[in-house]
Amino acid sequence: MATTIRFKGYGEIAVAPGTSLLQAAQSLGAPEGYACGGVCACSTCHVYVTSGGSLLTEMEDEENDILDKAFDVRATSRLGCQSKVEKDGGVIEVEITRESLEAFENEHPEHRGKFTAR
Ligand code: FES
Repeated sequence: MATTIRFKGYGEIAVAPGTSLLQAAQSLGAPEGYACGGVCACSTCHVYVTSGGSLLTEMEDEENDILDKAFDVRATSRLGCQSKVEKDGGVIEVEITRESLEAFENEHPEHRGKFTAR
C-alpha cells in the first residue's frame, strides 16, 4: 500500500511511509522551496495541509519555532521537510504557499514568475 499526496494544481504521487512532503513534491516536480536544504532552518518549504493531516508525523517544537517566522501561517501550516507520512493508506491534500513558490522561483531562476503568476 501507499499514501497518496495531492499537491493542489500539480497532480498527485503515491509514497511510502517515512517520505516527507518536500520529498514527495520533489519527486512529483511540484515547485516547493527548500532554501536550507530540508534541515528545519528556513520556512521556505511552508505548505498548507488541507486534508489528511492526521496521516503525518506530529509537529515538533523545532518546526513550530520556524513556522513562527513564516508568512500567512494558518492552522493547517506545516513545514514540508519536517512533516513525514506516518500512516500507510489514505490521501493527503497539500497546497504550496506563496512564500514557498517564491522561494522555489528564487532558487530556480529559469522558472521565475512561472508559478507565482498563476
Ligand atoms: S527546507 Fe528549510 S525548513 Fe524546510
